[in-house]
Amino acid sequence: MDKFVVRGGNPLLGTIKISGAKNSALPCMAAAILTEGEIVLENIPQVRDIETERRLLTSMGAEVELGYGRAHHRTRIKCGILSDPVAKYEIVKTMRASSLVLGPLIARTGIARVAMPGGCAIGGRPIDLHIKGLEAMGATITQDHGYLEARSPNNGQGRLQGAHIVFDKITVTGTEDLLMAATLAEGETVFENCAREPEVSDLAELLNAMGAKIEGAGTSTIRVKGVAKLHGARHRINPDRIEAGTFLIAGAITGGDLNVTDCNPAHLGALIAKLEQCGVKLDVGKENIRVRSGGALKAAGISTEEYPGFPTDMQAQFMALATQADGATTVTENIFENRFMHVQELNRMGANITVQGRTATVRGRTALESAAVMCSDLRASASLVLAALVADGETILDRVYHLDRGYEHFEEKLRNVGAQIRRMGDVFTKK
Ligand code: UD1
Repeated sequence: MDKFVVRGGNPLLGTIKISGAKNSALPCMAAAILTEGEIVLENIPQVRDIETERRLLTSMGAEVELGYGRAHHRTRIKCGILSDPVAKYEIVKTMRASSLVLGPLIARTGIARVAMPGGCAIGGRPIDLHIKGLEAMGATITQDHGYLEARSPNNGQGRLQGAHIVFDKITVTGTEDLLMAATLAEGETVFENCAREPEVSDLAELLNAMGAKIEGAGTSTIRVKGVAKLHGARHRINPDRIEAGTFLIAGAITGGDLNVTDCNPAHLGALIAKLEQCGVKLDVGKENIRVRSGGALKAAGISTEEYPGFPTDMQAQFMALATQADGATTVTENIFENRFMHVQELNRMGANITVQGRTATVRGRTALESAAVMCSDLRASASLVLAALVADGETILDRVYHLDRGYEHFEEKLRNVGAQIRRMGDVFTKK
């Protein structure tokens, strides 16, 4: 199992280029199921979850070419015949986002069999809202041996039916899954209380390029006029706002001077505001953000919310920064239960963090020291690397496969701006 060895103490200086968003790329790849035409996606990040999604699609009979030609970040997908519309447990267990194939599969083939998802161990993470929505569109869903089987009306022969769906709770992949299903439904579907994340808008842009009729993506009400068929399209994936945010914190925590380029600052409003409250200096351009030390960091509390609020996917990284701020920072996690697994590892490095229910209190500033620590999920791993960048001595991070699920060439990007970080063990091979 790969490990990172990080020696702290260097301010990060230079430029880091942001990759495409994993969380946009995954639903966009799943959208290819909706058509027999060819989907070409640009700016696909080379991360483990994308490779998992490729395996998932090919196991169903799709042709997927990842990173062909000179453009390593381009993917071409053709779902001509889907001979086996099953998302198998062996593949699904490592990636919760596999549930994103449920909606497109049933819409295209009338029948979908999808293993109940795995992925990051942050809370129960049910998919009841996906199921409820599909049932409202006329699907019949049964469960056996850890699999969900969904059939469109008339025992898989008919089309899904337009419906009025009000989400009980805001769900990102739930919105995306049902949005894809609705594109091929008969009649109009109106969704209320939708996720407004940029990844939903990115997917809707691709679907409209494929011939779908979607209005309102990016707002809480989305209307979809179902069409009988979709066609091939080409689409460029948005920059990864969470990767950009992680590197902004890397610049801030090390007191460096980093230019984070090829990102979309408009998607980072909540984080930018918080970093400024902490006293971090930011120069925000159209597609880049320069981050510089503004002297001592000040405590500023966060509370995670759905977009455009402070993202839960930045909570762990922000907590690493809070250990270096003067004063007490409260961090409230409202989206997922059990998303404080990085706390005990940060404390082992010398942080002073206590947790009560959904709120953690970070008392800073504490000097961090190196330790052997364990990565528990994708963003927690990033948080531990950030802490290690300012820790005294050499920190060894175990189980970095969590990090490989979602950050492209993470250690290379950090090394290029002066971090002392190396990988030990079987190097993740890019395919
Ligand atoms: C997506 C992101 C993930 C991010 C999360 C919240 C992808 C691939 N992943 O995950 O990185 O942390 O949004 O921004 O895009 N819920 C239910 N029933 C459901 C679905 C969700 O109760 O059917 C609950 C969840 O348990 C959670 C909340 O809704 O408490 C939000 O989850 P959701 O937005 O669905 O997260 P994901 O889409 O899985």
